[in-house]
Amino acid sequence: MKIAIPKERRPGETRVAASPDVVKKLVGFGFDVIVEKGAGADAAFTDSAFKEAGATIAKDAASALKSADIVFKIQRPIIEGDGAKNELSLMKKGAVLIASLGALYNPDDVKAYAKAGITSFAMELMPRISRAQSMDILSSQSNLAGYKAVLDGAAEYPSAFPMMMTAAGTVAPAKVFIMGVGVAGLQAIATAKRLGAVVTATDVRPATREQVESLGGKFLTVDEEMEKDAETAGGYAKQMPPEYFEKQKQVVSEHIKKQDIVITTALIPGRAAPVLVTEDMVKEMKAGSVIVDLAVEAGGNCPLSKLGKVVLKHDVKIVGHENVPGRLATDASMLFAKNILNFISPHVDKDAKTVKFDWEDETVTGTLVTRDGKVVNPQLTGEEK
Ligand code: NAI
Repeated sequence: MKIAIPKERRPGETRVAASPDVVKKLVGFGFDVIVEKGAGADAAFTDSAFKEAGATIAKDAASALKSADIVFKIQRPIIEGDGAKNELSLMKKGAVLIASLGALYNPDDVKAYAKAGITSFAMELMPRISRAQSMDILSSQSNLAGYKAVLDGAAEYPSAFPMMMTAAGTVAPAKVFIMGVGVAGLQAIATAKRLGAVVTATDVRPATREQVESLGGKFLTVDEEMEKDAETAGGYAKQMPPEYFEKQKQVVSEHIKKQDIVITTALIPGRAAPVLVTEDMVKEMKAGSVIVDLAVEAGGNCPLSKLGKVVLKHDVKIVGHENVPGRLATDASMLFAKNILNFISPHVDKDAKTVKFDWEDETVTGTLVTRDGKVVNPQLTGEEK
């Protein structure tokens, strides 16, 4: 069985879907692993490290993909264009594709995988059950993004984070406010605390209060009554009613005036990110304050943030970096690759040296989007509400 790891071709992508460690494990299962030349260059994984781990280095994407039974990728393949530009066209019929496909947002791509006879798994759809935590790319990547968001904010902030009592005077600690306390938000709280900031945080899900407090942050409650019904069975936030946003606006505008750094991470799966920091709130913030909008790729939690840019609006810097996990390419690749390895491992038949998916397994049914020429995921076929 051949597993291929091509170089990522989408602009700005620095990660790679395998690490030398993961290659070693795959080779240990008896698989042939083919890594495209230079695939790990931006993540500091050299071709020779992959070779030492037991991979064969292919000179280009076409030769890496042409006979591959399974393809590991970070981002969805490019389906447009001719020749080697069209990554999907380089894959053989019947191959298995495992990647972050953004399947709910790119239904036409999913149809193209079905048409090409590709069995595809969208890793972002991994069910949030305890057994699947080690396979969860959203968690592994968000955790790194939460950490990096604080460093990005600190780099733009013209003052220090910790309190410093010096002979020349006292430097006040930075006040950091985290909006959205999921995986990224929790790591952002921990990182800001470690840097010496005074941290507050808010979320619609009441369960997060305890988590914030256990990390040494203070929780900002918006409306306890409405928050009682804010969480889905899967642990995600629900779309909140307009009254909630009104109340949130009042509470947050008062609080935000006194903050130095605001990190927003609020997302609602399958929808545009909720607006949490309005232009009026930005106007009220102190000059030199910084907003880091981690939701910028989903439309942003602040309407002034610009994807891929750091902008100055009303004397406030608004950071909208794209692909934040990719700014920590080595760790992000290592964890992403581990997530895929953990996903396929239970299905490896070591004697036959092949992968035989258990099509009934919840992690398989949850992530499988195309098989046998058809789109099969209930979230895409409309069979699931
Ligand atoms: P996410 O990335 O979808 O959203 C980030 C945060 O924004 C969430 O905490 C959400 O409640 C919050 N949010 C949404 N709308 C908001 C609003 N209007 N105002 C304020 N906050 C708002 O969420 P993430 O980080 O992926 O995690 C969601 C939950 O899933 C967490 O409870 C996490 O612990 C759980 N989880 C479970 C896993 C498993 O069991 N396998 C794996 C990973 C996470």
